[in-house]
Amino acid sequence: MQFPVFVLPFISVRAVMDGGGMAESQGIYRCEACGNVIKVLFAGAGQLSCCELPMDLLVEQSSGSPAAEHFALVRRMDDGYRVTVGGVPHPMQDDHYIVWIEFFADGVVSRRFLTPGSEPAAIFHCPEAGQAQARIYCSVHGLWRERLPESGENGTGAVRESGAS
Ligand SMILES: [Fe+2]
Repeated sequence: MQFPVFVLPFISVRAVMDGGGMAESQGIYRCEACGNVIKVLFAGAGQLSCCELPMDLLVEQSSGSPAAEHFALVRRMDDGYRVTVGGVPHPMQDDHYIVWIEFFADGVVSRRFLTPGSEPAAIFHCPEAGQAQARIYCSVHGLWRERLPESGENGTGAVRESGAS
């Protein structure tokens, strides 16, 4: 009889007392030594570490270079939203591609993983949201977030468009 083997990732949580800080809920952390990337679903009073080093909280970028490649075009469809990455098309090569797109809609978080060679876009089926955000992870340029403008407000980069594509 065979028993399943579980391999635990080499990620741990250290106590605040050793100089670390509390993790950030919904934060994305990366280990600079091995490249592990994780998301915190609920923050506890400990510091994340991997390879015996503190993990770095990735800063959500919304401007700067190369912003045009990571611009999120969000289009409302009949039954959801389509998020397309890149005012100019983002590369989708083995060494540089959009790894995933997250979509936050009125407290619901959805994530679509992409692969090299695919289109840098994803469709999220949901009702029209009062508050919506798109977050993108690029294998080279890290984390990007676009907050969609609410009605009567100028947005920070993302575009809400009506009509199915
Ligand atoms: Fe990129």
